[in-house]
Amino acid sequence: MIVENARFFYDGKTVVEKDILLDKRIKKIGIFDGGSEERFDAKGMFVFPGLVDPHVHLREPGAEHKEDFESGGRAAIAGGITTVIDMPNNPQPTTTIKKLKEKIKLAKKSLARVYFHFGATKNNFSEAKKAEKFEEVKGLKVYMGKTTGSLLVDEEEAILKHLKNFKKTVVFHAEDEKTIEAMEREKMKRWPAGIVGIAKACALGKIARGKIHIAHATSYEEVMLAKMFGATVETAPHYLFLDESAMKKWGGVNPPLRERADAEKLWKAMSKIDCIATDHAPHTKKEKKEGAKGYPGLETSLPLMLTAYNKGLTTLDELEEKMAENPARIFELKGIGRIKEGFVGDLTIVDLNEEWEVNGENLNTKAEWSPFEGMKLRGRVKAVIKEGRLVYQDGNFLA
Ligand code: NCD
Ligand code: ZN
Ligand code: ZN
Repeated sequence: MIVENARFFYDGKTVVEKDILLDKRIKKIGIFDGGSEERFDAKGMFVFPGLVDPHVHLREPGAEHKEDFESGGRAAIAGGITTVIDMPNNPQPTTTIKKLKEKIKLAKKSLARVYFHFGATKNNFSEAKKAEKFEEVKGLKVYMGKTTGSLLVDEEEAILKHLKNFKKTVVFHAEDEKTIEAMEREKMKRWPAGIVGIAKACALGKIARGKIHIAHATSYEEVMLAKMFGATVETAPHYLFLDESAMKKWGGVNPPLRERADAEKLWKAMSKIDCIATDHAPHTKKEKKEGAKGYPGLETSLPLMLTAYNKGLTTLDELEEKMAENPARIFELKGIGRIKEGFVGDLTIVDLNEEWEVNGENLNTKAEWSPFEGMKLRGRVKAVIKEGRLVYQDGNFLA
């Protein structure tokens, strides 16, 4: 098909207005008149490469009541995200090759492209080594602190062994468990667990010469600490747009939201942040009341960031970098994350000016609520093209 009058970053750099001829791959960029190709007129819109989210929890298998690959895949596409990397903390975690193969099969029904982070345990080194060889596996996830699920590797020696063993990127939930427990006993805020966790992960990463990535940084200081050691780092929109007061309303998230001043200061670290990930972690309303931690975020992430762009807090090229190009590079997703001839034929077409209000009931996630409920946003996903096919337009799925 041809997407005509598309305004986009050509090869990630300067904005051009051209036509894009694509099928599974982007075939040619130029001006194409005539011909019998199907056409999509993107006049007045902005076009991103299909976005990449390196941190989602699509919950299948084992917790399909809160999400599965079908609903989660639709939520991703509606959010302009055509590629996701799914986390291993299922009720039966993805820590063996058997579980991995099962998940790879189940994920085939997702409309979005799904890759996987394999789960680290205190002793599954040989399984992790085998998982590393799978094309579908893009990272190893180490949980240094307890969160949803049972995965926990809180021993330095085991972390070090994984870092030496696994040659793709190792992703850390970098909250140090002993510090979490100490802060809880002292009835103090938990953020020091993040500082200790990041320092420990980075130092071990350095000595083992591993490639490490820090998940969900919550503050300016956490970002700077990770960058000082040469790690890559992501944050999630809830740390940029919300503060601890939201946890009273929507229940908690790991790591917890910070004070208003921390959220504001985090924007000042934008140029150092490698990725905006969603940490899409759906739970039912009932589970939230019972204390489940995590927020759904696939469908609000890009519109929130476009709203920030409209307020002058970020730029379109920063967004493309942090929501497509960088996650694709860090996790070695070849041919993904740019609008360039030969790259995959995924495009996210947005209206930079459309105003709308978040209503959890209209979302595709099974969670059917959002911590951004009622927020007035400016910027909306209008259409998504996946491998040369229009799969989503104006709130409807066409595939
Ligand atoms: C995540 C979940 O529910 O799977 N929850 C969360 O609060 N972020 C787990 C995690 O990313 O720590
Ligand atoms: Zn986490
Ligand atoms: Zn997570």
